[in-house]
Amino acid sequence: MAVVSTSLAGAAVSSHLTQFSGLRKSFLKLDNTSSNSTHSFFQNVDSHLRLASSNKGCRGVVTMAGSGKFFVGGNWKCNGTKDSISKLVSDLNSATLESDVDVVVAPPFVYIDQVKNSLTDRIEIAAQNCWTGKGGAFTGEISVEQLKDLGCKWVVLGHSERRHVIGEDDQFIGKKAAYALSEGVGVIACIGELLEEREAGKTFDVCFQQMKAYADAVPSWDNIVVAYEPVWAIGTGKVASPEQAQEVHIAVRDWLSKNVSAEVASKTRIIYGGSVNGGNCAELAKKEDIDGFLVGGASLKGPEFATIINSVTSKKVAA
Ligand code: PGA
Repeated sequence: MAVVSTSLAGAAVSSHLTQFSGLRKSFLKLDNTSSNSTHSFFQNVDSHLRLASSNKGCRGVVTMAGSGKFFVGGNWKCNGTKDSISKLVSDLNSATLESDVDVVVAPPFVYIDQVKNSLTDRIEIAAQNCWTGKGGAFTGEISVEQLKDLGCKWVVLGHSERRHVIGEDDQFIGKKAAYALSEGVGVIACIGELLEEREAGKTFDVCFQQMKAYADAVPSWDNIVVAYEPVWAIGTGKVASPEQAQEVHIAVRDWLSKNVSAEVASKTRIIYGGSVNGGNCAELAKKEDIDGFLVGGASLKGPEFATIINSVTSKKVAA
């Protein structure tokens, strides 16, 4: 299916944000005016695209605010055995996946080599963590050079389990991100607020502070995918509503536009994570600023993960 993506993020963001900044303190209450105006903005974009699309004979268009390709990552966390992973890999190898999606899986370190040697090249491999610099006398750590040696193209950093269970702070995470990028490894840069932070109206403050820590550390955003993962939604079965996720995604895109550049805001994929599954992915994927997903539990089931990857089709509007 042909894809025409918009590169109108800057316009979308600025038309939306004038009404948007007032949401900081009343975050749980959705502002209907602002979502209506975003909706009508995208209806306009959509009708332009429909015309452009039918003129070129395309079968579908995408209502995406950003210009990046849909991206779906599977974070296997600390799960699996040689046998269960071999079954998962074989399910993924036999799945039919839409072509216009970047797909990545992050096995536990000890199984990366097994997965790399058995998984289709269609799916890239990520690590779930890395050391802050070159390897050496750092007991228990894994260096970016070692990850590259095994064929990893990506690393997940700043995940809430690393922040809140292991105790990693913004600066430590920023250092890892900078080093991975300097070695040519892409970073899936996680951000997200705790439940009490959301309830205190601090969602944007927390996410922007985490974004700033990455921005202060990295020389370029070319190889970064931002994953918005509200901590209260991770592994809880309590998924953010499409509106709740969209609201943060558009704010993060606006933050990038104001603090990095409009080009980076448009190009950077902002994916959502937190209890995404085969049943809720299509509705989430329809939101303009949701450029894909980071999936935990549901990525351990091959067919369900394939459904989530293929939810890119719900972004497409028949021409
Ligand atoms: P979950 O995890 O899908 O199991 O909620 C998401 C994540 O931690 O990336």
